[in-house]
Amino acid sequence: MTKSDNTAGKPGATPAFATRNAADPAFWDERFEKGFMPWDLGGVPADFEAFASAMAPCPTLVPGCGNGWEAGWLHARGWPVAAIDFSPEAVASARRALGPAGAIVHEADFFAFTPEPACQLIYERAFLCALPPAMRAAYGRRVAELLPPGGLLAGYFFLDETRGGPPFAMPEAELRALLAPAFELVEARAATGSLPVFAGREHWQVWRRRA
Ligand SMILES: C[S@@+](CC[C@H](N)C(=O)[O-])C[C@H]1O[C@@H](n2cnc3c(N)ncnc32)[C@H](O)[C@@H]1O
Repeated sequence: MTKSDNTAGKPGATPAFATRNAADPAFWDERFEKGFMPWDLGGVPADFEAFASAMAPCPTLVPGCGNGWEAGWLHARGWPVAAIDFSPEAVASARRALGPAGAIVHEADFFAFTPEPACQLIYERAFLCALPPAMRAAYGRRVAELLPPGGLLAGYFFLDETRGGPPFAMPEAELRALLAPAFELVEARAATGSLPVFAGREHWQVWRRRA
């Protein structure tokens, strides 16, 4: 597994972009093509590593996987994992980054993809906050459809009252209203090791699908 050549976050490194609609795969293609990925940790975040290390492997879906570092890490530990991204450039980048493990990365739209076998864990990082706010209700419905009772939605949530994006921050109350009908919150704390783009607003949370 090799780290991406990420020029993001370096002063003066922001390129000019032609695309502005984050619901369009072309938006993300352009950013991956230009190596502008301020969200990309280049490895596995600590909260997730601790969480997954304490669990038995289970079928896992990583939607909007980008370079797919966590999916590659799970795969290397024997987890059945499907990582999806609807941007062809993101998929190509992940396959370069992950090497042979890149076979677990599929080009697919989260809202049209059903994993086989069914997932028991959905890992969230910088995916919900990449979606235009109008798509949040569809996200809430889809994670509830995909997970069986007891299944977990775990990961990083970008919570704040500010507007604009991506990343699109969400008030904490809005996230609760979105997920609480189908999930109970079983773990919540400030994330550790956030990148500058998420700093102070990134939260590690685990939600369990209700029966
Ligand atoms: C901000 S990046 C985060 C990537 C990765 N999760 C990470 O933490 O590095 C958001 C990713 O979600 C993908 N994406 C956005 N909408 C999607 C959709 N409807 N289905 C699948 N992937 C999507 C984008 O192509 C992009 O790679």
